[in-house]
Amino acid sequence: MTTIAVLPGDGIGPEVVEAALPILDAVGVGWAVEFGEIGWGCWRREGEPIPSATWDLIERADATLMGAITSKPPREAEAELPADLQGTGRRYASPVIALRRRLGLYANIRPITDLYGADFDFVVIRENTEGLYAGYDYRGLDDDLWNLVGDHPGAVESGRDDTAVALRLQTRSGLDRIFRCAFDRAAAGGFTRVTLADKPNVLRASGELARERFDAIAAEHPEVEAHTANVDAVAMQMVRSPESFGVIVAENMFGDILSDLGAGVMGGLGLASSANVGGRGSLFEPVHGSAPDIAGRGVANPFATILTVGQMLAELGAPDESARVRAAVREAVQHGAVVTPDLGGTASTADAAAEVVRRLG
Ligand code: NAI
Ligand code: MG
Repeated sequence: MTTIAVLPGDGIGPEVVEAALPILDAVGVGWAVEFGEIGWGCWRREGEPIPSATWDLIERADATLMGAITSKPPREAEAELPADLQGTGRRYASPVIALRRRLGLYANIRPITDLYGADFDFVVIRENTEGLYAGYDYRGLDDDLWNLVGDHPGAVESGRDDTAVALRLQTRSGLDRIFRCAFDRAAAGGFTRVTLADKPNVLRASGELARERFDAIAAEHPEVEAHTANVDAVAMQMVRSPESFGVIVAENMFGDILSDLGAGVMGGLGLASSANVGGRGSLFEPVHGSAPDIAGRGVANPFATILTVGQMLAELGAPDESARVRAAVREAVQHGAVVTPDLGGTASTADAAAEVVRRLG
């Protein structure tokens, strides 16, 4: 039987997960769910953001569904550890990054589908492991870095202690796997085009490598149109004519920005779902965070998590059930009577979710 590891997490995470899980029964897949702890609250209690029991659960399960977690700067975090764990040198590291690393989740997939009666349906695929977020980010430069940038007028004026450098890492193997992911998904999902959103005329060397690999992988899928476009132009076109896209693929930072823009095009964080996929396993989560400003009040929008469950259904081999979930959310959004405050309604988290379940019945 298919088993889902469910990690409610912090803030509104447990609220939206509790509201969304009945969807699995409503569509009749009969999957088992097992709960695990993760996140900031877990760290405060146990000194671990992901305890070993949770890792075991993730390894055992077919997929993981996460609510949201709260991030804190390490120093602030340590001050809130239980007394017996303070001074033990434990650091609060982002569980999301740990999950991505350990499960090899190199692709973040965000469907951007129209829920309001316009007509767009595209996917933003963000590379998760390299690009400008690969971690090569330096302030106060050593000789090697200073030799690289020290003749820049700003660096000359500021000096090496007040100059910072972040490097954009692009590798052939990293590029090939993310582009293959983009073209395979385009072909499987019936999309006719894949757009690489990059900045090849400015980031010449890394952009050229990306483009070369993009064209090479595109040649494996002659049935799909392949385009390279400037990321800024893509951003504008996503707003002006979102119906013109199929799959958009981008390096880590550009993909981060475009995927949040996509959430905005859809109607906000309360509606945006995501999947992290890769070598060993998959992690599904709404795009939003733990929303401390509304946590505990029962007003968080559960639709992002319900659509995330829908995305999980499609990934785990239940595409018809996935389509039904999306249709039910679309009806609920357009009908508009039973939606949460972020969408202009007055419904609670539980009532909004129950409305979707009712429409699935
Ligand atoms: P956020 O996404 O939690 O909230 C941003 C704004 O959107 C807030 O005003 C919030 O009330 C609203 N919002 C978010 N989800 C909503 C929902 N389902 N229904 C109605 N309104 C919703 O981002 P923020 O405030 O920047 O971060 C809060 C915490 O979450 C931080 O600790 C941050 O690090 C963490 N975070 C975690 C993520 C994850 O678990 N993957 C992603 C983003 C942030
Ligand atoms: Mg983001």
